[in-house]
Amino acid sequence: MDQDGTSNSNSFSNRLIASVEDLKVYFHSKKGLLHSVDGVSFDIVDGEIMGLVGETGCGKSVTARSFMQLVQTPPGVIAGGKIRFKSKKTGNQIVDLLSLTENQIRELRGERIAMIFQDPGKALNPGLTIRAQIAEVFQEHRENDVFEKAKLSHVLKGFIGVVLKKYMRQETNLFIRLLLFFPPIRSYKKKLDKAIDKLVTEALAETQIPNPEKVMERYPHELSGGMKQRVMIAQAIACNPDLLIADEPTTALDVIVQARILDLIKELQKRHKTSVLYISHDLSLVRKICDRVAVMFAGKIVETGNSDDIFKNPKHPYTKGLIRASFMTHERGKLEEIDGINAT
Ligand SMILES: Nc1ncnc2c1ncn2[C@@H]1O[C@H](COP(=O)(O)OP(=O)(O)OP(=O)(O)O)[C@@H](O)[C@H]1O
Ligand SMILES: [Mg+2]
Repeated sequence: MDQDGTSNSNSFSNRLIASVEDLKVYFHSKKGLLHSVDGVSFDIVDGEIMGLVGETGCGKSVTARSFMQLVQTPPGVIAGGKIRFKSKKTGNQIVDLLSLTENQIRELRGERIAMIFQDPGKALNPGLTIRAQIAEVFQEHRENDVFEKAKLSHVLKGFIGVVLKKYMRQETNLFIRLLLFFPPIRSYKKKLDKAIDKLVTEALAETQIPNPEKVMERYPHELSGGMKQRVMIAQAIACNPDLLIADEPTTALDVIVQARILDLIKELQKRHKTSVLYISHDLSLVRKICDRVAVMFAGKIVETGNSDDIFKNPKHPYTKGLIRASFMTHERGKLEEIDGINAT
């Protein structure tokens, strides 16, 4: 392994997009060191939907956040392990996500690896319109595409390009703001804004949100739970990531909306050939969407296999318990469906 966390190790199979190897994440607490993730290993095959299931507090989200170096340290400690990831953008170079520098991980985060969170209400910024929140992804990771879409690639190298780039990155001081009023630059700026509008609308349309042009102008509190979750998905797929991590993306939603969001993730995964790590506590839900599944219990993986095999023939007593629990949830869900019809 090089100092910058890259390697071309042969043990990382060509079929994989990521491999978690003996990951250990601990937290300092009043009761001592909490072994939240305690030697977790599993692979994600390129193009598959891999499920990670387990009950509340077993370490699923901490595992997921480790991919993006989003574990808060302290109180967290990455006590060991690797998360190897094949970065398609950089010629399939294999990097250890845990040993990348802040700048290196920032380049991957949101662009090559994106995440959808459990509670879209918390993950979206209440003070920004949907347009502004999705536009951020394009501004940060697809600057050149935006310029091309606006047919402004010729200005990129010149002074106007510098001004417009600063505008896009929202690095505007008084001088830049004054320059933006200068008629030739103003007309370029208009084209740029139009191009961003178009990209944002396209991203929203992919999630089948009705009237994306109108939704784009709204604030998160003006949208239903299902719509907010679609906005999060639009944001996550805006850069066509290689790996999408969906951390209980439907838990806050009722059963019917939940089913629609699941279908949407599956459809997008097929269309873009994205690999997905799908996290849930509900094994029967995971069976519907995932090719394979790893079952997690108290910081460890207790069973891994094809979703159907695990569901039909669970080996670990904990997995059997999870299956029973998910049947109970779905029986309850049937009664709730009637309320959910208008919630998307
Ligand atoms: N920032 C933190 N500080 C202290 N402890 C933490 C922190 N984040 C997570 N933990 C602990 O790590 C353990 C695993 O948490 P994690 O969020 O991964 O669970 P989970 O499996 O995602 O649960 P859920 O299904 O409820 O989302 C928990 O015991 C939790 O209290
Ligand atoms: Mg969680």
